[in-house]
Amino acid sequence: MKLFNFLLKDVTHKIEYYSRFSPSPMSIKQFLDFGRDNACEKTSYMFLRKELAVRLANTMREVSLLPVSLQSQPSIKLLESWYSQSFKELLEYEKISPEDPCTLKDFLEILIKIQKRHSDVVPTMAQGVIEYIEKFGFDPFISSNVQYFLDRFYTNRISFRMLINQHTLLFGDTACLAQPKHIGSIDPACNVAEVVRDAYESAKMVCDKYYMTAPELKIWEINCKAPKKPIQVVYVPSHLFHMLFELFKNSMRATVELYENSSEGLPPVKALVTLGKEDLSIKISDKGGGVPLRMIDRLFNYTYSTAPTPHLDPSHITVPLAGFGYGLPICRLYARYFQGELSLYSIEGFGTDAVIHLKALSSESIERLPVFNRSAWRHYQTGPEADDWSNPRSDPRDASTYKANR
Ligand SMILES: Nc1ncnc2c1ncn2[C@@H]1O[C@H](COP(=O)(O)OP(=O)(O)OP(=O)(O)O)[C@@H](O)[C@H]1O
Ligand SMILES: [Mg+2]
Repeated sequence: MKLFNFLLKDVTHKIEYYSRFSPSPMSIKQFLDFGRDNACEKTSYMFLRKELAVRLANTMREVSLLPVSLQSQPSIKLLESWYSQSFKELLEYEKISPEDPCTLKDFLEILIKIQKRHSDVVPTMAQGVIEYIEKFGFDPFISSNVQYFLDRFYTNRISFRMLINQHTLLFGDTACLAQPKHIGSIDPACNVAEVVRDAYESAKMVCDKYYMTAPELKIWEINCKAPKKPIQVVYVPSHLFHMLFELFKNSMRATVELYENSSEGLPPVKALVTLGKEDLSIKISDKGGGVPLRMIDRLFNYTYSTAPTPHLDPSHITVPLAGFGYGLPICRLYARYFQGELSLYSIEGFGTDAVIHLKALSSESIERLPVFNRSAWRHYQTGPEADDWSNPRSDPRDASTYKANR
């Protein structure tokens, strides 16, 4: 027991120590140059054993600032145990030189183990939030903190996976077998329209299964840098695929639901891909009836969905078309992770344009990472400020009685 307490104290101390460092953001160009020209496993090891511990410690400190009632939910407890276990495993390499025999091989295996352990972090965290809301109801103070926390927590996770993937794909046994031209998870010549088509086909399969029909796709490309040539970018295709898949599912659902009882055919979903000097932009447009302006911000709230909650039946592993309310917020995190953005422009009664902006240059696609510091800490201590604009929801004053009373 004494030894256990000592170890626990030691780990807490280490979390505090590593969280004092800010994470070191990498650009896609740095990932690429490292992997292509001087991929050295020892250098990667030296970088990762500290950087992964720093990123884990930063996020663990934020978990510890969540309201106790939320932290005590079984799913959050489970999640904390995964993070703490992975942190301890990384600490074991703190003082081990890469020259020691077997170090690099063992480290690689540990990274794969950590990757697997964390594979269900998103649904587990989501489950924790649901458990909390079911028990304690909706609280605006906690809800705004949870939104702030989840954006940072999931971004941290995206970055953590990115670092581990680069290492395991570059130096693992299956290195370069699946995609010989890729540098780790990065495609140096990612054909954007191809990823658009792939994501559309995957979303179409889900939509067909659900509604027995799906809108068609029309793609336009405008390449301002090299007119008439296909648009290529240095990017992580899996991230791009993920964002587009979510947007297509949303557009398809809106379109099919609006035209369900109509004799007209379904209007196609359109994709416009443009490459300028600074931005690579992808616009997905649908004629699915849109949403009112008042709702736009809310669509990015975790758990906001207008679809019925899908049942997660482990024996039927099918992707639901909608229902978790995680599609848009996570999609925006992927866009922002490399300094991009996701914006939604909707015209109620007509349709929606979702625009993904990415950096055209890989040197400008730099990781955007949450840092645990005083301002982050302050965020969890204060509630949302009182509104300093008049509130449209309160009943309008009856001017006639107001005058008469005066
Ligand atoms: N193109 C669109 N047209 C109309 N409404 C949309 C569109 N995209 C999103 N929405 C609305 O925004 C809500 C949230 O979208 P989001 O993708 O975050 O979650 P979801 O689709 O409900 O569930 P999932 O997590 O499975 O994607 C949707 O439920 C829908 O009401
Ligand atoms: Mg969705």
